[in-house]
Amino acid sequence: MAGEPAKARIAILISGRGSNMVALADAVRAGEIPNAEVAIVISDQPNAAGLERARERGIETLVIERRGRQREEHDREIIAALRHRQIDLICLAGYMRVLSKEFIDAYRGRIVNIHPSLLPLYPGLNAQQQALDRGAKISGCTVHFVDETLDGGPIIAQREVPVYDGDTVASLSERILIEEHKLYAEAVNLVLNEIDSSP
Ligand code: GRF
Repeated sequence: MAGEPAKARIAILISGRGSNMVALADAVRAGEIPNAEVAIVISDQPNAAGLERARERGIETLVIERRGRQREEHDREIIAALRHRQIDLICLAGYMRVLSKEFIDAYRGRIVNIHPSLLPLYPGLNAQQQALDRGAKISGCTVHFVDETLDGGPIIAQREVPVYDGDTVASLSERILIEEHKLYAEAVNLVLNEIDSSP
């Protein structure tokens, strides 16, 4: 019997609010990311608000704390959880830790991140503040593959957002976030189509 094509299994890593995780999960549920499922949401923070929002959606959640361990040891526990669940794509969504080389090597080309600026401008923390400090008239968001560089991996998709006079970090962040939520689902579609058609 010819079955449905296997669904791509997505893991989303968060550390906090999880609004991008919610956007991705809801896009999957709405059929906007066909042939995919959010298999698990992993947080390094036990109090991440996103965990509850994932549970409400019936998604498995897992907390894997750093607990003073080396980055490599922490990541190994995460990799084991991902392997156990046969994860195809990892989406970082406000995950506030730098990944070890081992993690990146284990899933090269299958880890993506969203960042609130038009990379390569304003990498790292406080991207919106950086844009305001530089007097930028345009900022935006970027979805990119994760490699060993800080927010420097190959770019998958970007969206511009205007910066207005009198903008604060809060007002600019809010305007960018609206676009992040749309862009992430679009970019995940692009990546999954690519993975699907690769030999
Ligand atoms: C977003 O602005 C994302 O671009 C950045 O961290 C923030 C996470 O927000 N990497 P949320 O947890 O997805 O709401």
